[in-house]
Amino acid sequence: MQTVKTLQMLRTALAQLRGNTGTRIALVPTMGALHEGHLTLVRSAREMANHVVASIFVNPKQFGPNEDLDAYPRQLAADAALLEAEGVALLWAPDAEAMYPPGFATNVSVASVSEGLCGAARPGHFDGVATVVCKLFNQVAPDLALFGEKDFQQLAVIRAMARDLDLTRPHVDSIIGVPTVREADGLAMSSRNRYLSPDQRVAAATLPRAMQAAVRAIESGADVSSTLAGLQAEILGAGFGSVDYATLADSRSLASLAALGPEPARLLVAARIGGTRLIDNLPISAR
Ligand code: PAF
Repeated sequence: MQTVKTLQMLRTALAQLRGNTGTRIALVPTMGALHEGHLTLVRSAREMANHVVASIFVNPKQFGPNEDLDAYPRQLAADAALLEAEGVALLWAPDAEAMYPPGFATNVSVASVSEGLCGAARPGHFDGVATVVCKLFNQVAPDLALFGEKDFQQLAVIRAMARDLDLTRPHVDSIIGVPTVREADGLAMSSRNRYLSPDQRVAAATLPRAMQAAVRAIESGADVSSTLAGLQAEILGAGFGSVDYATLADSRSLASLAALGPEPARLLVAARIGGTRLIDNLPISAR
């Protein structure tokens, strides 16, 4: 595996990888601090393409002023070793200057789908995500790109951007969502789980457990708003300090739903435990 840190090196390395026509390249964008969830993206990418390019960039534009940009774990050498062992061909690891040279002035903003849920609690976050992912797509020009469904709203924002801007590399249909990978007790894997104290880590597993119970209840016809109220109460009772949202939403538009309808739906939750904000989501079968 080659690690490149400048755009010029990236272009040369990509041209070599592409070689003859017909070679498919998959991109797995990450912010590093890799866990099994990321490695699952890489494994899926390897099955779908000839070569996998991974990127590691802790994107300052997607962190709010009081968020964890400085604390976010950075471990490039360890991450590179993990990616190499998974057969990644090329690691794109720019620094902030290479990604945002002096004078950088463009913002990609996807209205509507960015606005509720995490967008409400984290103003500007999805603009930062859309801007850097648009750049990563243009820099690498992959045939396909893979993202975890754990960040379900992020995936919807990226798909909307690709559709609205008629992106071709990758095309919106080549943006692949990969199901969330979970710890043995059900907690969704996240680089931020390492912020949890041992007690918080135990309490955190209540989140997916309570969500699964809520999904079963809603699928069996229980009233949505009282089920969501019960879900919130259970999460708070387990030691979470607050719930940013616990919502039933249309899987595509992310518009909130008062009742289950014929379209696929999703249960989405964001809740804070200590200083850590955890998000999770689960599919709900349509009626
Ligand atoms: O999901 C992430 O790790 C990031 O939001 C992404 C997609 C790499 C953009 O910085």
